[in-house]
Amino acid sequence: MSDAKPISVLGICGSLRKASFNAAALRTAIELKPAGMAVTVADISQIPLYDEDIRAQGFPAPVETLRQQIKAADALLFACPEYNYSMSGVLKNAIDWASRPPDQPFAGKPAAIISAAAGMAGGARAQGDLRRSMVFLDMHPLNKPEVLIFQAQNKFDADGKLTDDVARGLIGDLMANLLSWARRMSAK
Ligand SMILES: Cc1cc2nc3c(=O)[nH]c(=O)nc-3n(C[C@H](O)[C@H](O)[C@H](O)COP(=O)(O)O)c2cc1C
Repeated sequence: MSDAKPISVLGICGSLRKASFNAAALRTAIELKPAGMAVTVADISQIPLYDEDIRAQGFPAPVETLRQQIKAADALLFACPEYNYSMSGVLKNAIDWASRPPDQPFAGKPAAIISAAAGMAGGARAQGDLRRSMVFLDMHPLNKPEVLIFQAQNKFDADGKLTDDVARGLIGDLMANLLSWARRMSAK
């Protein structure tokens, strides 16, 4: 048995709706995670719209919580919906809040992305934009495999279970790669 320390992952989902395919994909990632990894999911539903005047008075409690969760995590896993060819405003807003100084917590974090979208590109354009923000914030994005669940409305059952074997395989591979990527970054 390996005596390597477990890797803690924080999941951040950019959709707030109950029946979200991205939230369901995140649950699938938790289901398929390898041994040696623990995943918790952030609640970003109470984060207000970014306002520099509010920030000047201190981070609102839901933002402070997110910042602490990001700091404490060994790695991040974004579930990234595609809205009008980009990431959702909900996700961008949470990232914008958490990214503000001092000690922006994303720096140095290994991070992976999964997407589920109604269109044929499966969220590829949103992931491209998220990756740009990740680079600016000094995260270490995992490149492969790309998890782009296209025509998501046909790939989950009524209970939100991902029924597509190809997508399930890719998510399993992504989680295994995230574990080794995070171990390399953290020397755990
Ligand atoms: C404002 C808005 C914009 C959207 N734009 C896109 C898009 O650019 N590409 C796409 O594939 N789907 C688009 N969709 C459809 C979403 O992929 C679909 O609603 C999906 O279920 C959202 O993710 P969720 O299930 O996690 O909430 C859009 C949906 C909304 C509400």
